[in-house]
Order: sequence, then C-alpha cells, then structure tokens
Amino acid sequence: MAYFILVFVAFGFISQIDCNSHYDNYTLIRLHPSTVDHQKSVTEFSDPSGEIEIMKESRGVNDTLDILVPPGKMKFVHDYANTNGLKLEEKQPNYGRTLQDVSERLPRRRILDRFSVFHYNSYDNMQEFIEGKAQRYPALVQLQELGKSYQGRKMRLVKISTRPNAKNPIIFVDAGVHGREWVAPAMALYLIHRLTVDPTAFVKGGELDGVDWYILPLVNPDGYEYTRSSRSNRMWRKTRSKHGASHCYGVDGNRNYGFKWAVSGVSNDPCHKETYAGPKPFSEPETQMVRNVMMDNAKRMKLYVSLHSYGQYLVYPWGYTGDFLPKQWKKLDDMARSVSNAVERAGGRPFKVLSAGKWYPAAGGSDDYAFGAAGVPYSYTMELTEGHEFAFPEELLETVLPQFYEGFKEFGARIKAEFGRQRKKREIMDTQ
Ligand SMILES: *[C@@H]1O[C@H](CO)[C@@H](O)[C@H](O)[C@H]1NC(C)=O
Ligand SMILES: *[C@@H]1O[C@H](CO)[C@@H](O)[C@H](O)[C@H]1NC(C)=O
Ligand SMILES: [Zn+2]
Repeated sequence: MAYFILVFVAFGFISQIDCNSHYDNYTLIRLHPSTVDHQKSVTEFSDPSGEIEIMKESRGVNDTLDILVPPGKMKFVHDYANTNGLKLEEKQPNYGRTLQDVSERLPRRRILDRFSVFHYNSYDNMQEFIEGKAQRYPALVQLQELGKSYQGRKMRLVKISTRPNAKNPIIFVDAGVHGREWVAPAMALYLIHRLTVDPTAFVKGGELDGVDWYILPLVNPDGYEYTRSSRSNRMWRKTRSKHGASHCYGVDGNRNYGFKWAVSGVSNDPCHKETYAGPKPFSEPETQMVRNVMMDNAKRMKLYVSLHSYGQYLVYPWGYTGDFLPKQWKKLDDMARSVSNAVERAGGRPFKVLSAGKWYPAAGGSDDYAFGAAGVPYSYTMELTEGHEFAFPEELLETVLPQFYEGFKEFGARIKAEFGRQRKKREIMDTQ
C-alpha cells in the first residue's frame, strides 16, 4: 500500500514539473482608464522588452486593458499606472497555473465523452463534424475546399443553403483567426449545428429561408492546434508561418488584410507576439483563402461576421482609423444594436456596439477588407464573452452559445428583410 502511495505521489510530482508553463508566475493585470486621458495612456502602453503580453486592448473609457505580466515586469507596470494615474487591479496571480492542460485531459475524455458542440474540439474533430454534416444532409450542406494552411491543414468552407441556385444573399461567418480565442470556433460549429438541425430554421421566415450561410469555422488551424499542445502555448494568437531570416513564428492574421494595410495599430517586428502585420498584405495562406471567399462571392455577400473573443463587443468599420466613420455607419450601428438586443432577450449580456477604430485604431483587419475592398454592406467583428479572458470555461458554452445564436437569427432576419427576394419583388412593383 505504502509503495503504491509513494509511486502515486512521485508520479504526480513529475507530471507537475512536466506541465510547468512559462506563464505559471505571470500575473493578470487590468488597467482601468476612467478618463479620456487615461484611455489614451492605456492605448499607448507598450513594453519595449516584449515580455508583457497584451490580452485585450481597451476600447473606451472604463474599458480595461488586460495584460499578462512576468514577475520581473511588475514594477514597470505599477510605475506606469502610477505615472498616468491609472487604477491597477491584480486580477490573477500565477495565471498559468489556472489554465487547464488539454493534452492531459484528452485521453480520458475520448473514452468518456462523445463529440459535443459544447466542447472545445480539436481541429480533427471539427473536420469530422463538418464531414458528417455534409454526408448526412447532402442537399443542405456543401463543403468547399479552399486550400491548406501553412502547416498543411485542409481548410473547408461550410455552405448551408436550402436553395443553392436561388442567388440568395450570403452571410459569411469566419472564426478563430486568433489561435487562443477558443470560444470563437466553438460558436461557428454551434451555428453549423443549429442551422442543420433546427426545424424552425427551415420554415418560412426561418434562418435558412432566402438566406445562404457560408461558415469557415477555423481560419487559423495551425495556431489553434498550437494553443492546444501545451499550457505554455495557450496564449498563442498568430499563425505559425515563418518569413525571411527571422527566427520568430507567425503573423497576426487580423492585421494581414490588404486594405489600408499596416497604417495603424500594427507591429513590423516578426517577433512581436501580438500584432505583427506580416512582410506584406496577404502573406498568409489563411488570409488569402478568406479573401478569395469574399471576392468570389462579393456580389451576393451582404453580411460578414468575424468571430473573436473576448470582451463582448460588436464593432464595425472603420478599424484602421478613429478619425471618421463610413457614411453608412448608422445602418451598421442599428443592425448591431438589434443583434445585441436579441442576445440580451435570450438572457445574454448586451454587446458594446461601436466603430472598431474609435478608441483603438488597427489596420489590416478582415472586417475593413470585407467592407472597404469587397463591398460587403454589413461587416462586423464580434468579440464573444466577457470574464475569464481566453479561458472561458467549457461548461458555460451550453449557456452562452444558444444566447449568441439568437443574435445570428436576428442577423439573418435583417439581411433577408433588406436583400431577400421578396424585397426585390416589392421594389420592382413599386417602380412599375
Ligand atoms: C515560478 O516561481 C517558482 C518559485 O519562485 C519557481 O520555483 C519556478 O521555477 C517558477 N516557474 C517558472 C515557470 O518560471
Ligand atoms: C466611467 O466610470 C465612472 C465611475 O463609475 C463614471 O463616473 C463615468 O461617468 C464613466 N465614464 C464613462 C465615459 O462611461
Ligand atoms: Zn481576435
């Protein structure tokens, strides 16, 4: 007996050392800007050493900047807060130790659980899921091969339509351009799930009535799988490409689009962990594939939504500048607010609706490209969830994903009302 206990203890000890993450001793800090001057100072915050990781930028007064700070940088951050009069909250010491290790948990899960849309699934499981949908509902679901990620993972667009030849308006949703934002691909899969199984989606006035849905559930599969490989990599955001002579990996896919590329809010340093824009626009195969979906379907595409986390924002162009808004901004704002209301009616939290670049300009985003280059009239970035940062608990997916789905229903209804066939007929009659 004593022998077994000893072995058990020794094993536990070893496995703890094994999964030691370099974030173990980091502290999650929130800086609270409560005036416009404060907000400016959090937007300008930067760590020359590159050791501090930015988790969430502030998008306004009273909206926090969240950063992960190594022990050696705590003084630097406290000094910055003091100098600028910012309230500093040490939200979580030993941050890395709170993260779950997927690789440890997986074998047990495989035996106990079947696939669930309320799990954080692997890339492979997601592929199996969409293949299964296409096999089971061949008249409804088409998979389009878009190409391969940098590391060679297949990327497939899921097209859901009850009448693919009816030239319906298209809603294009992508997710997971940032590896660590796990709730985003989970939402995209859930959307595919509901659109294929909900009886109400098929009836007159349902989500699929007169609207086609194109969903790319995982834009950055390489980055996503990297974040699943160990707790040390859990905070990875970029792709996993390599460019030129740099020893550093990855490009921020959401700074890589070729519209006002790199004019604001980007880094030119390949080693920058967050916002390296790449050596040129569309340097990444992943962003090229999303661009091609937009361009190939530009005429019919009426709404683009890029799913991210976190912060519970629903933001619209322009992202590259806060100096002015597109002239159609009121329509963008109205639709976003009605989506937020729908989510709230379903018991969810409202979204903070604003123009993306108002407080934190950042160029090269997919939403600006869709709106500015592809001419998609409604384009949004949706930052899902608030609280728990990127480690949104898996057991809460069952609560929040159905709430967000109500927002997507509203998107569908709005797009149909403005661009659907009924509407077109009415316009023709009006002009007769
Ligand atoms: C965290 O701090 C402990 C105690 O100071 C130290 O033993 C350990 O090596 C540190 N972990 C990492 C990953 O740096
Ligand atoms: C920010 O929060 C403070 C304190 O709650 C409040 O007085 C102020 O009006 C808020 N400012 C904005 C712009 O929301
Ligand atoms: Zn993101």
